[in-house]
Amino acid sequence: MAILKILTLPDPQLKQMSEPVETFDQALQAFIADLEETRQAGPGAVGIAAAQVGHFQRIVILDVSNRPKTPNHGYLVLVNPEIVHWEGYAMGREGCLSVPDYTGNVIRATHIRLRAQRPDGQVQEYEMEGFEARAAQHEIDHLDGLLFVDRVVSRRTDLYRRKVYQS
Ligand code: NI
Repeated sequence: MAILKILTLPDPQLKQMSEPVETFDQALQAFIADLEETRQAGPGAVGIAAAQVGHFQRIVILDVSNRPKTPNHGYLVLVNPEIVHWEGYAMGREGCLSVPDYTGNVIRATHIRLRAQRPDGQVQEYEMEGFEARAAQHEIDHLDGLLFVDRVVSRRTDLYRRKVYQS
């Protein structure tokens, strides 16, 4: 296992589109283990996308279970995730390992249905709400080369500089 280097703004690779995973082999499992180790090494990161370590395949890890009073599915590896239905919207504060100096207010759907493959290739659907739904939308954006700073309501009033990273 290894802790991978996280790309940060203004690295142009963060704008790159990620490709679907087609082969569910040992190399994929090893990469997922490294990505999870990297997420855990980060300061309280609830999610990480493969693109953030310069690996441009559609893979996301999500775990918001350490957030109190947040409905969640625990630790999830989402391969080739697709949001197939969404409802509602709310503004909320987001941070990102790739944007260490800022948090920002972003509008996201409050309820989503997400279809993804597990690391063994099996397709699964998840109903997500609240912070877990927000985190999933944030991470899937990374696979399309988007950061939360591209989605803040206003760069003038809805970006907040922080001195010390805390998610
Ligand atoms: Ni992020």
